[in-house]
Amino acid sequence: MKKAFGRSLACAVAFSFAFAAQAQQQGAELIAKKGCRKCHALDTSRDAISLKEIAAKYRGKSRAVDALSAEYRKAGDHARIRVSDEELKALAEHVLSLK
Ligand code: HEC
Repeated sequence: MKKAFGRSLACAVAFSFAFAAQAQQQGAELIAKKGCRKCHALDTSRDAISLKEIAAKYRGKSRAVDALSAEYRKAGDHARIRVSDEELKALAEHVLSLK
């Protein structure tokens, strides 16, 4: 019984890591597809704050994905880009993984 619980826990942990990795990969593709880089450079502020600066700003905060997503929805220039909540989550996971 105890063993089985341990195994399913290990499985759940492995699964959530796999899921996060997949979301980050999907996010990397979405950055390109949605044209985020037209305004956000990877590491130096140009027209807008860079993606790495965004990562540094939110990394370590609790609920970083939610905070970053909320700020994304508020920032005015994004209104014309169609991004679903699911896509935004993947984008946020990816941006937060940038160093
Ligand atoms: C038309 C230009 C433009 C495009 C395209 C764009 N952004 Fe932005 N974004 C901005 C501007 C301008 C700001 C707010 C000003 C700043 O701090 O530079 C901003 C702010 C943000 C923020 C909030 C940063 C903070 O300081 O908390 C996030 C997160 C973000 N953008 C992510 C994205 C993602 C992801 C995409 C692609 C889906 C994207 N942006 C596409 C112009 C753009």
